[in-house]
Amino acid sequence: MNLEALLHDRLAPALEAVAGHPVDPAVRASPHADFQSGAPLALARELGRPPREIAAEVAAKAGLAGIADVAVSGPGFLNLTLTDELITGALNRAGERLGVAPVTRPERIVVDYSGPNVAKEMHVGHLRSTIIGDALARTYEWLGHDVVRVNHLGDWGTPFGMLIEHLLDAETSDGSHSIGDLTAFYQSARAKFDGDDDFRTRARLRVVALQSGDPLSRELWRTLVGQSERYFLDVYQRLGVTLGPDDFAGESTYQDDLAGVVDDLIEQGLLTESDGALCVFPAGFTGRDGAPLPLIVRKADGGFGYAATDLAAVRHRVGTIGADRMLYVVGTPQRIHFQMVFAVARQAGWLPDTVHAEHIGFGSILGADGKMLKSRAGDSIKLAGLLDEAVSRASAPALGIGAIKYADLSGDRRGDYVFDWDRMLAITGNTGPYLQMAYARVCSIFRKTAEGPGVVMIGEPAERDLALALLGFEPVVRSAAALAEPHRLAGYLHGLAAAFSAFYERCPVLKADDQVRASRLGLADLTARTLHTGMFLLGIEALDQI
Ligand code: ARG
Repeated sequence: MNLEALLHDRLAPALEAVAGHPVDPAVRASPHADFQSGAPLALARELGRPPREIAAEVAAKAGLAGIADVAVSGPGFLNLTLTDELITGALNRAGERLGVAPVTRPERIVVDYSGPNVAKEMHVGHLRSTIIGDALARTYEWLGHDVVRVNHLGDWGTPFGMLIEHLLDAETSDGSHSIGDLTAFYQSARAKFDGDDDFRTRARLRVVALQSGDPLSRELWRTLVGQSERYFLDVYQRLGVTLGPDDFAGESTYQDDLAGVVDDLIEQGLLTESDGALCVFPAGFTGRDGAPLPLIVRKADGGFGYAATDLAAVRHRVGTIGADRMLYVVGTPQRIHFQMVFAVARQAGWLPDTVHAEHIGFGSILGADGKMLKSRAGDSIKLAGLLDEAVSRASAPALGIGAIKYADLSGDRRGDYVFDWDRMLAITGNTGPYLQMAYARVCSIFRKTAEGPGVVMIGEPAERDLALALLGFEPVVRSAAALAEPHRLAGYLHGLAAAFSAFYERCPVLKADDQVRASRLGLADLTARTLHTGMFLLGIEALDQI
C-alpha cells in the first residue's frame, strides 16, 4: 500500500479548502513522525499568514481515517502518525504481490540494453548497460508492462571487411575457419589493417562485397556474428541476465531500411549535403564553436553509420513493434547522439509525441586511482575475467555475481563509481552480500519451525518500524520504475534489511507466545518475500542458505 498517497488524499481536500486552490501536500517519510507535510509553510508565504496557524487549520479539516495523530510541529510542519490498524490491515492484505497491483494501463516498453560489439570483448561499459537495463526490464515486466528487450549488437560496418579478410587468411587446410579468442582475433586483424596496404585494400573491397550481398562474405560474416553471440549469451547466463538469443537485433537488422530513411528525409527536405555527407541539422544542437551540429545519415563514401541505423531502429520500434515507450540504456558519452536521433525522428514524424523516448545514461566505472577502470597491464578490463574473479573471491558464485551487480545498481546510475572488491564484497554496509546474508537469516527462522506465518499485529516499536518499512515497497518500486532509477530499490532493500535486524535483535520470534509468535513469523515472512522480490527485480539471486 502506498501510505504517502493515502495521506496525500487525506490532506489534499483540507489544503485546498484553506488555500482556495489545489495544493500538493508534499508528504514525506520523517524521523519525527511516520510522515510529515511541509505544505502549510509554502501556503503561509502565499497567504501572508502565520504558518502554524495554517497548519492547525489544515489539521482540523483533514480527513482522519487511518490517522492516529496530526500534530503541528516546528515552524509549521504537520506530523502525521498512522494508526496501527491501518498498517497491519495493509500488511495482512498484502498477498502474493506484496500489495503491488499490476499497472492498470500496461505499456509496450522497448528497453535497448547491453549492445556489445561483435568480435570485441564486452567491456565494463557494456556491463553497466547490461546490469541496469536488465533491472529495469525486470521491474517494468513485474509491474505488468509488456517489455520488449532489444540487444542492439554492433554487428555491421567497416570493421567487418578486415575481420572477414583475416578470417580468410586464417583458413585451415580443411577449409574451416578458426577464430579462437575473439579479442586477439580482432587485434591481429586491426594490426594487419594498420600496417599492410594490400590488406587494407582487400578489407575495403570486402566491405563493399558484404554490403552488396556477396554470399561468401555473408557466410563468413555470419560465422563471426554467431561466435560472438554465443560468447555474449554465455556471459548473460553467468550474470543471470534475462537477455536471450531472440533479443539480438543488431545494427545489421536495419540495413534494408536505410535507403528508405534517406528517401523519407529527402522528401521532407531535412537532408543537407555537407562535405559530401548527407546530414540533418536538428534545431538547438550546436558544437563548441556555436556551429550547428550535424547528424550524419550517409557518409561521404556512401556508407551508413551508427546514427542512420538508430534512426531506422526508431522507425521500426514505433512503427512495427508498436512501442509506447523506448529506453536506451547507454553510457553518458552518447547522450547528445540520442538527443539528436530523437529530435530528427520527431521532425521526420517517426516518433510521435505520444511515444516517449529516453536515453538512460550512466557514468563510468573507475579504478581505485579514480581513473577509468583498467587491468594491471593497462588495457581495458575484460568482462569474463572480472566475473571469474568475483566468483573466486566470494564463497558462492551467486554472492560474487550479486556483489558486482549490487555495486553497480546501488548508486545513482548517472554517477561514476569506484570498483573496489573489498567494499563490494563486505558483509556490512550497503552491499550485495549484506542483503544476501539478511535474506538467508530470515529464511533460517523458517528452517527451525514447522509453523507458518500468522496475522500481523503491532506491539513493540521495532515491530512497527519493520511493518512501516515493509509498506514502503510499493512506492519505491513505482518510483524506481518511473524514474528508471534502480538505486532507489537497492537503497530501500538495504533499509528493510536493517529494520529486520533491529527487529530480530529486540523481538524474539520462536520463543514468543502463540499470537505474538504467529505475528512475528508473519513479519518475517513478509520481509523474506519482499527481499526476495526486490532482489529478483534487481536481477540478484537470493540464496536461502549461505
Ligand atoms: N554498440 C554500441 C556501443 O558499444 C551500443 C549500442 C546502443 N544502442 C543503440 N541503439 N545505439 O557503444
